[in-house]
Amino acid sequence: MSPNNKTPGVIESLQTEVENFPAPPHFVETAQFGPEIYQQATQNPEEFWAEQARALHWHKPFTQTLDWSNAPFASWFGDGEINLSYNCLDRHVLAGNGDRVAIHWEGEPGDTRTITYHQLLGEVKKAANLLTSLGVTRGDRVAIYLPMIPEAVIAMLAVARIGAIHSVVFGGFSAESLRARIDDAQAKIIITADGGWRKGRVSPLKPAVDEALALATETPLSVEHVLVVQRGENDIAWEEGRDLWWHEEIAQVDDQHTAQGFPAENPLFILYTSGTTGKPKGILHTSGGYLTQASFTHRAVFDLRPETDVYWSTADIGWVTGHSYVVYGPLSNGATQVMYEGTPETPTWSRWWEIVERYGVTIFYTAPTAIRSFMKQGREVALKHDLSTIRLLGTVGEPINPEAWLWYREVIGAGTAPIVDTWWQTETGAIMISPLPGVTATKPGSAQVPIPGISIDVVDDNADHVGRGNGGLLTVTKPWPSMLRGIWGDPERFIATYWRTFGDKYFAGDGARLDADGDIWLMGRVDDVMNVSGHRLSTTEIESSLVSHPSVAEAAVVGAQDEVTGQAVVAFVILKKNQTLIGDSDQASAILTAHVGNHIGAIARPRQVFVVGELPKTRSGKIIRRLLKDVAEGREVGDTSTLADTNIMQLITEKLR
Ligand code: PRX
Repeated sequence: MSPNNKTPGVIESLQTEVENFPAPPHFVETAQFGPEIYQQATQNPEEFWAEQARALHWHKPFTQTLDWSNAPFASWFGDGEINLSYNCLDRHVLAGNGDRVAIHWEGEPGDTRTITYHQLLGEVKKAANLLTSLGVTRGDRVAIYLPMIPEAVIAMLAVARIGAIHSVVFGGFSAESLRARIDDAQAKIIITADGGWRKGRVSPLKPAVDEALALATETPLSVEHVLVVQRGENDIAWEEGRDLWWHEEIAQVDDQHTAQGFPAENPLFILYTSGTTGKPKGILHTSGGYLTQASFTHRAVFDLRPETDVYWSTADIGWVTGHSYVVYGPLSNGATQVMYEGTPETPTWSRWWEIVERYGVTIFYTAPTAIRSFMKQGREVALKHDLSTIRLLGTVGEPINPEAWLWYREVIGAGTAPIVDTWWQTETGAIMISPLPGVTATKPGSAQVPIPGISIDVVDDNADHVGRGNGGLLTVTKPWPSMLRGIWGDPERFIATYWRTFGDKYFAGDGARLDADGDIWLMGRVDDVMNVSGHRLSTTEIESSLVSHPSVAEAAVVGAQDEVTGQAVVAFVILKKNQTLIGDSDQASAILTAHVGNHIGAIARPRQVFVVGELPKTRSGKIIRRLLKDVAEGREVGDTSTLADTNIMQLITEKLR
């Protein structure tokens, strides 16, 4: 773009492009979806989505497609009735595919389980009966705090089967974060495990639940029962009456269960994500529209052949990718997939590639941060293994730098597998921007084009299209089936966060650029939200965690570029005068890093903590994080003219030097 383009909101980009890769001929010839799908979708997007929805089983067929009369609160397929668990399980068994493997599961210690669709359905029926026997009914919230074990999938599908709402909380979140989510959703039951395996050790989950439930908060405790899956076999405390062993209870319930239809707009799940204020947002998704888009995109973007493919998404069920592309997308399509409990480097960096080889994985979906970690280990680690079954690769969670993209294609994809770089969010529910492997010539680093049926625009601050060659703000201009339906308990925040900026367009919070071909390049978040290893963290949330330490007076947090994690948390703190808990700056880093880890969870731990005397502020007292980011990234500090005290940045940089 022209460097003197001064349109407000237009973001400058200096990235240059490398070669692109035409869709391989065998994909073009055999792909389930060819170029005509775009025309179809553009002609009548609503009818296009209705057609995709009809590929699902409806207990009562819908006659209405989209109702946008109460915008921005959408209703899709509103008069239809559907059961998501039926679509993910019963349907495949009834079609004669009960013996197909649904999940090849591998625990971190090396134990394995193979679960067919027939078996998975049996387990889900029992779990549904168990939840019902504990008083869970339609609309009740069930919190799930589990490791990556089959029971996580079983629990989610059982909750969906009875029309209740699941709120999965990532197992790496601390007791406090868990309690905040339990309180916000008023969860009646929590399903957890004694512990799960991570990095060769058992990470205790039930103890964190106990701690969460014992915390004194403003909200009276909503939880009636804690269901505990036995996994870690670690010692745990037990509260009679409240705590129940999953395996003991499951053994006592009936194994028959008939799925009933629920209205298409029946809430399916709440998933908390970071916003610009400290309080996490409970993103609300409903049933029919969500499954329509999760299912369609999983087929189209991954060119899925359920009879022959072995699909593996490395995402944890605690994040939206785990919801849409471990549970609902693959299972609704009758796919066979791999599920792995542990971390990629346990016991060695070969682990993932051993798994690919063992199960003959054909479609592999992971995050750029993982790819960069593997690049650091050297290509030999992966190349020692037979990865020849892989035919398609995907990435999600953050922009992928062209270098990592090319490495991924060459080393993991044998220089031939197409890569689908998929852009989407917790809020969008399913993939929104991505190449289609049988159609698009892929470009390293760019997510490229909206999927069929989705309308995207990149605009400036005045909501005007920026035009090719320019950067701006990413918006979605038409409602889509898997869009969030709100923020749990806070309709005003939903409107203010996503709809106030541009009125009729959804504002995603990301910057983007259109290249000369009109392809979309994502440029990261434009708000105070960082992206660490593909996970969104709010600066405010970490700042309040730092300030909750008795020795900290003020804190500012920025996301600084990081070779492996994309962005890393860098904190600047002012210590209280006469504080004694933290001695010098070196100690501050260790103490405060641990503090944030305990408070929010390991993922939020700062890479660095700098003790400073002042923070850069405007006259109205707003911290200018942009300047701190310059320091954290080792750049010359930018424009300081709006600072109340223009010398401050000099003092900070001198101190840190
Ligand atoms: O900034 C974008 C980035 O991740 C954000 C969404 O984060 P979350 O809700 O946690 O969901 C992550 C998994 C879908 C987006 O606003 N992001 C996600 N995918 C990409 C991406 N940035 C660039 N390219 C992507 N493919």
